[in-house]
Formats: sequence, C-alpha cells, structure tokens
Amino acid sequence: MDIQKIAILGSGSMGTAILSGLLKAGFDAANVAVSTKSVATASRLAEQFGVTGHPTEANPEANANAVVGADVVLVAVKPAYVAEVLREVSANLREDALVISVAAGVTTATMEAAVPASVGVIRSMPNTPAIVGRAVTGVARGSRATDAQLTKAVSLFETVGKVVVLPEIQIDELGTVSGSGPAYVFFLIEKFTAAAMELGFDAETAHLLVTETFLGASELLAAVDKTPAELRRQVTSPNGTTERAIAQLETGNLEDLFVRATKAALARSKELAAGK
Ligand SMILES: NC(=O)c1ccc[n+]([C@@H]2O[C@H](COP(=O)([O-])OP(=O)(O)OC[C@H]3O[C@@H](n4cnc5c(N)ncnc54)[C@H](OP(=O)(O)O)[C@@H]3O)[C@@H](O)[C@H]2O)c1
Repeated sequence: MDIQKIAILGSGSMGTAILSGLLKAGFDAANVAVSTKSVATASRLAEQFGVTGHPTEANPEANANAVVGADVVLVAVKPAYVAEVLREVSANLREDALVISVAAGVTTATMEAAVPASVGVIRSMPNTPAIVGRAVTGVARGSRATDAQLTKAVSLFETVGKVVVLPEIQIDELGTVSGSGPAYVFFLIEKFTAAAMELGFDAETAHLLVTETFLGASELLAAVDKTPAELRRQVTSPNGTTERAIAQLETGNLEDLFVRATKAALARSKELAAGK
C-alpha cells in the first residue's frame, strides 16, 4: 500500500473498523494518528492498537495536530461535523494530502471548499461488515483527486473488503443498497427467526438455524460459479416443500418491496442533503 502516514479523524465504529483493517494488512501503527472527542476513546485506541491518540476534549487543536505530515486524512466523524473538522485541519494539511470521507451525504464539493486547492478529495460509502473485514465500499473521486490518490483510497478500503469505484452521482444509490443493506439482511434474519420460533424452536435454536443458514448460503454462493437463482432451484424439487414455501414468498412480491425500500432510502438521502 502506497500510504505513508494516515490520520483518522473520528474513530467510532467506522473509523476503528478501517484502522483495524489497515493494521491487519501490515500498516505500521507508528504511522497512524487518530482523533476522537473523548480522552477515554483516544487512550483505549492508543493502548489497543499502538497508534497516537488525539482527543479534542483535551486539546481543541487535536484534529489539526493529528494531520501533520499525513499524506492521507480519513474523515470518519458524523456528517454534521465534517466541514467543521476540515476547517480545523485545513492549515496543517500537507500540500499533496488526500482527504477521504466516509460521511454519508457530504459532497466532495463541500469538502473541497473547506481545504486548500492543492488537496485532493475522495468520498466513500463503506458498510458495517467492515468491522469483520467484509465490507463493500463505494468510492467516488472529487474534481481534484489524482489517479494515484484514487489508487490509495481503493487500497485503503480493500483492507476491509471489496471496493467499487463509481461516479459521485451514484454514491447515494449505492448507499441505499450496500450502505443500508446490512440492516435489510438483519431485518430478514429477525423475521425469519420469529417464524422459526412459531414452529416451536426456542430462541437460541431458532437464531442458530437462521443465522447459520444465511451464512452458509452466502458462503456457498461466493464459493461456486452459480447464480442465486440456480442455487435456489437446486434446493427446490418440483412439487416439494421448498417449492410451496417459495410460492408463498412470491405472493409478497419481494422485488417490488425492495424497489420501494431502496427508493424510500434514496428519497431520504436527498432530503438529508438538502438539510431536512
Ligand atoms: N456506521 C455505518 O454503518 C456507516 C456506514 C457508512 C458510513 N458511515 C459514516 O461514518 C461516519 C462515522 O459513523 P460512526 O457510525 O463510526 O459514528 P460513531 O461511532 O459515533 O463515531 C464518531 C467518532 O467521531 C468522534 N468525534 C466526535 N466529534 C469529533 C471531533 N470534533 N473531532 C474528532 N473526532 C470526533 C467520536 O469520538 P468519541 O468516540 O470520543 O465520542 C467517535 O470516535 C459517519 O459520517 C457515517 O455517515 C457510517
């Protein structure tokens, strides 16, 4: 990986997931600075990962100090704080720095306006399986990021999973699929588990049956060169039990339901971008 020094501004669930992936990929903790709000989080991260922690609670210059010398600055604070944090660090950024944000809904234009003109900006949308190294991350470059900087961003997110490079206009759409997607899957698991309990299984057994079925089916899909429809047909004997179950599921018109769900998420992301 071509990153020399990285500052991670905001190390909550997403910042820490990426920090962890980066270190697992062999990146030297001595070249990582993290900022947090609280002293407690900064100390915990320093102890757990051997990185330098900069809590803003203890020092208002913490973010500005963290970015000194960094060729990559990953912004992983809540979207509402991105512009403010960028303004705090702007004067201390390396001239050739790359700023990468994971914040939902914050455009590259907004970020570019908050940092010097020589600084490249990239926007991304990872998802929570980053915590276990199984994210899929959408990456979109701003108007100034170079090819080499895009490569750096891709290699950073590859430490936590797969990466899709796309134009920025598609990143909200990607968010409604893979960004929000883990919640859709957990929701399906919740409902399927409730159905298993209806059949008389206790909660623990129902959870085991359903989660292992999701994990096993996903791993099977990843391991063999077959489409989901082909794998589904393999389980579905003509006039058998699965065929009856699938016929019931078909009555729910799942495709239409997912179209409506992702469109609703997209409409909300437009509202959020408009400050509503
Ligand atoms: N979670 C997801 O599914 C997901 C997916 C894609 C993108 N994202 C994006 O990831 C970003 C972070 O989300 P998250 O879920 O990781 O949030 P989170 O767990 O609340 O983490 C936010 C982090 O920011 C720190 N912080 C707060 N104010 C700060 C400041 N002024 N300067 C520096 N650090 C500050 C917090 O410090 P303390 O720990 O000390 O409070 C915390 O470590 C968001 O922009 C979100 O849109 C999240």
